[in-house]
Amino acid sequence: MSTKKFIAAQLRKPSGFFGRFITVRFLNLVNVPLNRLTLEILQLQPDDHVLEIGFGGGDLIARMARIVTHGHITGADFSIDAIEVCRKRFDTLMDVGTIELRCASVEALPFNADTFTKACTVNTIYFWPDPLAALGQIRRVLKQEGTLLVCFSPRAVMEKQEFTQHGFTLFEPEEVKSLLSKAGFRDVQLVFGRHRFGECVVAKGIK
Ligand SMILES: C[S@@+](CC[C@H](N)C(=O)[O-])C[C@H]1O[C@@H](n2cnc3c(N)ncnc32)[C@H](O)[C@@H]1O
Repeated sequence: MSTKKFIAAQLRKPSGFFGRFITVRFLNLVNVPLNRLTLEILQLQPDDHVLEIGFGGGDLIARMARIVTHGHITGADFSIDAIEVCRKRFDTLMDVGTIELRCASVEALPFNADTFTKACTVNTIYFWPDPLAALGQIRRVLKQEGTLLVCFSPRAVMEKQEFTQHGFTLFEPEEVKSLLSKAGFRDVQLVFGRHRFGECVVAKGIK
């Protein structure tokens, strides 16, 4: 496998020794600006019940846990290695029931309808096999009036990284906005930010 394909595969799904010790640490370092932007727009309350899909190394979960002191944080990720790393990282908060981590794909979220007050996902939409169906799943598990945030880097920024030729689907901000509307979210809007590679964007919608 070429280096670029290997990097792309690791970013899609951190795996094995490399995934546990290198990929998730790398993700936690480079994606801080996207996580900060997401957290700012999410406007979490201490009693929120929030779902993060594709938490990787858990940087955003750690930030959310400082605010959600009386609610609940659920992480869903289909990488068993990301789950293992984060289980160790958050063992105390998992023991007291503040954090729950589930090995699950966005296409089949193992949660009841109308469970979460907020949901977010950062840098994962590129890997979803069927984005519209995935957004439908997220909408299903959100409570009425619940907020969804999808944070990503637009096509022009991602295209500069050659590894994105291997298994990434790239989006224009307007395309993601339109997907959220098609999935049934209302008041959809885009909020733009910056990180070291260029522009990033959060698509926000309400159930
Ligand atoms: C590029 S990493 C981003 C991690 C973290 N959100 C960040 O920004 O640092 C993508 C993460 O999403 C997860 N992921 C990718 N596709 C997924 C899917 N279809 N369902 C659930 N998790 C997925 C991967 O396992 C990985 O942890």
